[in-house]
Amino acid sequence: MSGAVTPTYPTDAPASSALFDRARALVPGGVNSPVRAFRQVGGTPRFMVRGEGAYLYDADGRRYVDLVCSWGPLILGHAHPEVVAAVTAAAAQGTSFGAPTPAEVDLAAEIIERTGIDQVRLVNSGTEATMSAIRLARGVTRRSKIIKFSGCYHGHADGLLAAAGSGVATLALPDSPGVPAAATRETIVLPYNDRAAVEAVFAEVGDQIAAIITEAAPGNMGVVPPEPGFNAFLAEIAHRHGALLILDEVMTGFRVARGGWAARSAAAGEPIDADIYTFGKVMGGGLPAAAFGGRAEIMGLLAPAGPVYQAGTLSGNPLACAAGLATLRLCTDEVYARLEETAHVIGGLVSGALHGAGVPHRVQYAGSMFSVFFTDEPVTDYATAKAQDVAAFAAFFHEMLARGVYLPPSSFEAWFVSTAIGDDELDLIAKALPHAAVAARRARSGAIVSKEPAGRESAGRGSAGEGAERKESL
Ligand SMILES: Cc1ncc(COP(=O)(O)O)c(C=O)c1O
Repeated sequence: MSGAVTPTYPTDAPASSALFDRARALVPGGVNSPVRAFRQVGGTPRFMVRGEGAYLYDADGRRYVDLVCSWGPLILGHAHPEVVAAVTAAAAQGTSFGAPTPAEVDLAAEIIERTGIDQVRLVNSGTEATMSAIRLARGVTRRSKIIKFSGCYHGHADGLLAAAGSGVATLALPDSPGVPAAATRETIVLPYNDRAAVEAVFAEVGDQIAAIITEAAPGNMGVVPPEPGFNAFLAEIAHRHGALLILDEVMTGFRVARGGWAARSAAAGEPIDADIYTFGKVMGGGLPAAAFGGRAEIMGLLAPAGPVYQAGTLSGNPLACAAGLATLRLCTDEVYARLEETAHVIGGLVSGALHGAGVPHRVQYAGSMFSVFFTDEPVTDYATAKAQDVAAFAAFFHEMLARGVYLPPSSFEAWFVSTAIGDDELDLIAKALPHAAVAARRARSGAIVSKEPAGRESAGRGSAGEGAERKESL
């Protein structure tokens, strides 16, 4: 590693603060997606004005090594020249046609080649992909109940904003005002990694279940990988009862391996016989694109080929397809190996610094996705994820931010790396970490919640860990 200079920024951020004040008058909470508001860690969200390679630049002129990567999509870093060139060239030809284009056929072919599915339908967001996948599963099976897991996030469709009912097989409750009870009445929420709970539900109402939906490897309660065989078990029990498995690879797809978590799992000797897959994030290269796909006999039921309705004005948008294709074509096996190495180097540095400061923690990985839990106990589901010390994370986060490292502003989110991270960035991270580890140790008593000026927001408020099933989604 070379001698990168570690910046230390003041904890106040006047330009971001002024923008946040203005934004809050105009936009609910000042942001267009909740977790951006820094509610769990407190303080002023940084308003970003530019991204280049491994770095984000904020309105106060500060630079950060980015370990959020737009929550996953920017696997090649910011403004990658080939992605920018592809989008620019596409834009020059027109931004949307409302008619089929060659680019969407190329993107579909790329996804199919990587995943081995038969057909794919392009949409604009992960939320649309999972919502449409569930409609399709219900259309195929002519059943209505779905199983989802606590702590897994699949976007903000009504039926998926559900919290567990009081008993294992009881129907879920709305997890947000505005979600009708009728919308969650067909959802059953179970603890993640809990085979017995899944078996109990199938024993009771197996003939009514259309599908199980699960994150291929959860990254939305922090990173909690499936226990060995869990995904294969889900496919097997679903099929035994005439139900489908929807494997949500919106986060993992094209992030953890060329063909996503399913391909990675198959290569490791555990094939997952899922029926419908959902994708997003990396496949759009930083522009809005997502997809769902599966076997031809299932996908063939979608309109206009079949009766299950699904549509979108901007679906398969030429700019998004260009960005996605340019990104995917650069994501080779070597790239995934390198990303994983980078993730493990950073995870090791974090662990070393926290050990050095005597802070209990765990670093958990799913391929190159990882996250740090401030707890001694194994984290295997949402209940154990919630047992972490969020105040320690908040202090850790702010110390890293002040030293030029941008982490997810919530301890319930995955950290993402890009190919743009090199020795200089690792050096900068390594230098910041001991300070952040000491801050975390001091905060463990709960005394320090934020270094930011008092009066704006305090850390811990709005935490996904405070009993809610619904996380502060991206
Ligand atoms: C696994 C998973 N599914 C679905 C979604 C929803 O995607 P979007 O935010 O594009 O609607 C997300 C978003 O983070 C996700 O992580």
